[in-house]
Amino acid sequence: MKKVLIILVSVAVVIAVGFGVYSVVKDDDNHDANSGNNHQSSTSQEPAPAPAEAQSGEVAVTISDFKYQPQTLKVKKGSIVTWTNQDDVAHDVVSDSDSPKRGLASELLSKGESYSFTFTEVGTYTYHCRPHPYMTGTVEVVE
Ligand code: CO
Repeated sequence: MKKVLIILVSVAVVIAVGFGVYSVVKDDDNHDANSGNNHQSSTSQEPAPAPAEAQSGEVAVTISDFKYQPQTLKVKKGSIVTWTNQDDVAHDVVSDSDSPKRGLASELLSKGESYSFTFTEVGTYTYHCRPHPYMTGTVEVVE
């Protein structure tokens, strides 16, 4: 009778341990699956960046590494934008022929030289560098 009890208890312990191990493994699986889902949903739920506030007054653009930085600007009417070349190579700032608004027409700017333009009209100004037409930029002027 005692032997039977010991066997029964042993079987119960083996089942309990086995079930416990199984539960832990299952929990791990669920945990992995959940964290994967959480990661995906948090990525897809990230809010889109808010549209940039329009700057005003004097706004600086650096010409560096064959790029206008920042490449895109949003400024209020009346703002003065100054481009300064920091490359050893000369660049300029010239309105695209198909730009909705035009008027940008700098000389070639050597290193350290600047060009300023006062935006008195609302609209979109697209421009480029004549020696390097792949260098492009945009100024959006708002009220
Ligand atoms: Co250039």
